[in-house]
Amino acid sequence: MAVVSTFCKKGGVGKTTFIGYLGHYHATQGKKVLIISVDDQNSIFKIFGDDDKIFESNDNYLEFLIAEHVDLGDILIEVRENLYLIKTLNTDKLSMKLTLERSQEKVIKRIIEEYDKYFDFIFIDFPPSSSRLTEVLLELSDTILIVVGLDSLGLGGFFNTIQYFIDNDINVGSIKYIVPNGYSKNRRAPKVSLEKLKDQSKEFTPQAIVLPALADKSIIKNLQAEGVSPFDVVKLERYDQNAKDILEKELTELFKLIEI
Ligand SMILES: Nc1ncnc2c1ncn2[C@@H]1O[C@H](COP(=O)(O)OP(=O)(O)OP(=O)(O)O)[C@@H](O)[C@H]1O
Ligand SMILES: [Mg+2]
Repeated sequence: MAVVSTFCKKGGVGKTTFIGYLGHYHATQGKKVLIISVDDQNSIFKIFGDDDKIFESNDNYLEFLIAEHVDLGDILIEVRENLYLIKTLNTDKLSMKLTLERSQEKVIKRIIEEYDKYFDFIFIDFPPSSSRLTEVLLELSDTILIVVGLDSLGLGGFFNTIQYFIDNDINVGSIKYIVPNGYSKNRRAPKVSLEKLKDQSKEFTPQAIVLPALADKSIIKNLQAEGVSPFDVVKLERYDQNAKDILEKELTELFKLIEI
């Protein structure tokens, strides 16, 4: 079992999209997959068209498990075959608890170890903001993927992320992959930025593999508006089926490069 995280200190770069698709890909391969959202926006639910489940019940958030009010199985939300999500209520509150009460850290470690028995992979979707919970879970991650937007702000985000790891004494060596996302308003930016990112990665994260860049694709936004994942077997009525099929193929090739 492996704990795999997508992270970046910059918002809106594609962390949730990437980890949602990576998780669903492995679920379709027959693996048991858990994705924990420690982002209180719980936007991972949107990827699968399950936004209604964010507020559906108010006793199945991660906090309730950490406070030991519920059991492991009580907070799992099944969104696809083999694919389960956990939602979080408020990371700031959790973070405060953790700071005040160090034993909460032990509880989180125990929770991850327990889920370990039931899942092949645990994926963690982080918010761009930091908290004690973020630090604890990053430290517990076997593999961290840094998603970087391919423009100057995105590159700044990469730099801030490395700085954050160093400032908080989180092992930079756990960063195994850099995921460039070409989703940018500036059309010229992606190519130039990718070269710069490769240089920066060589310097700051020499152990990490820079993956081929994800292209800016309107089909991603369209599918998310419909709550359809590229790995769902569906016939699209409103959108281009071919674009979805190509996206699924490209993602599959990309995901095969990631060893977790
Ligand atoms: N390659 C892409 N092509 C087109 N749209 C994309 C691409 N990648 C991400 N998006 C869109 O960009 C938006 C932000 O993506 P996402 O929510 O995955 O980012 P995030 O880093 O998780 O954001 P946050 O920091 O708010 O958690 C979403 O609307 C998503 O559909
Ligand atoms: Mg997100």
